[in-house]
Amino acid sequence: MIRFEHVTKRYPDGTTAVEDLSFEVAEGELVTLVGPSGCGKTTTMKMVNRLIEPTSGRILLGGEDIAAADPVELRRRIGYVIQQVGLFPHKTVLENTATVPQLIGTPKAKARARAAELLDLVGLDPAVYGGRYPEQLSGGQRQRVGVARALAADPPVLLMDEPFGAVDPVVRERLQNEFLTLQKTVRKTILLVTHDLEEAIRLGDRIAVYGTGTIEQFARPAAVLGAPATDYVASFVGADRGLKRLAVTAVAEADLTDADAKAPAPAASVELGATLREALAALLQEDSGRIGVTDPASGALIGVLTPEGVHRALRRAQLQEV
Ligand SMILES: Nc1ncnc2c1ncn2[C@@H]1O[C@H](COP(=O)(O)OP(=O)(O)O)[C@@H](O)[C@H]1O
Ligand SMILES: [Mg+2]
Repeated sequence: MIRFEHVTKRYPDGTTAVEDLSFEVAEGELVTLVGPSGCGKTTTMKMVNRLIEPTSGRILLGGEDIAAADPVELRRRIGYVIQQVGLFPHKTVLENTATVPQLIGTPKAKARARAAELLDLVGLDPAVYGGRYPEQLSGGQRQRVGVARALAADPPVLLMDEPFGAVDPVVRERLQNEFLTLQKTVRKTILLVTHDLEEAIRLGDRIAVYGTGTIEQFARPAAVLGAPATDYVASFVGADRGLKRLAVTAVAEADLTDADAKAPAPAASVELGATLREALAALLQEDSGRIGVTDPASGALIGVLTPEGVHRALRRAQLQEV
């Protein structure tokens, strides 16, 4: 859907922001770009909607070279969410959300009805929040309006630059989870920039780990954590990458021990497919050192997870990734 081919950007002052970037984002995929400040993430993103023009190389959107597209028309197909949100202070929440559809000629009543639906979708009751002004919202609520506004024109592609960066960690995690749920419904093709590795891991179908102006590794989160491609990536993901992998590995049937008819049934349980992180959290609370694992559909006990099972699951996932 979005394809970078040997893209380099050199600014007029001689700074090479990105060099020879080649990667592809598939339709409906969420790719996170992660790396330290100044490594070229924002530059990469802004080249997709032509706020910045590459020095060399080309970018294809749906197979079409964007250099040949009209920038205004191009931006109608691409929603853009930034950290500062950029809501119009003198417009209400509903008006802000309806901005783009109205700009492209959607009748006012229809644009507003759609805006109300989207506010609902991002968890803001339009009857309560629609008439408020941005300054009457919390940071997290403003962020949601930013997401609703970017979705309002129903663009196939979303660019998100540190979209949850301006809110505190608790709100951020809630927004991230809501956003993942939303993405399951809307299935946009998304490029999301963050400097936060945990966020990149939690949200990305695949992650591009940036060094300085180049991508050091482009892979699924579990692969980046389980098999860092370079020393740089290994140090970026940190010595505790084994712990981080708990959040991106699911409990599978092969990791379980048969329920022992003689032992008492474990008091706590998680569903098959839960993350190892959730499972380990439950396990650590259990005196018996075992938890049940149930079938998500029927609720029936499938087997028992022990600390050895968690270890087995991590090894299994690692072997699958390399
Ligand atoms: N307009 C500009 N002129 C010159 N250098 C720039 C400009 N914008 C960004 N840069 C430089 O390009 C590099 C990449 O910047 P940027 O893409 O904003 O990084 P990131 O988003 O990863 O923090 C940095 O060294 C930055 O200072
Ligand atoms: Mg940036």
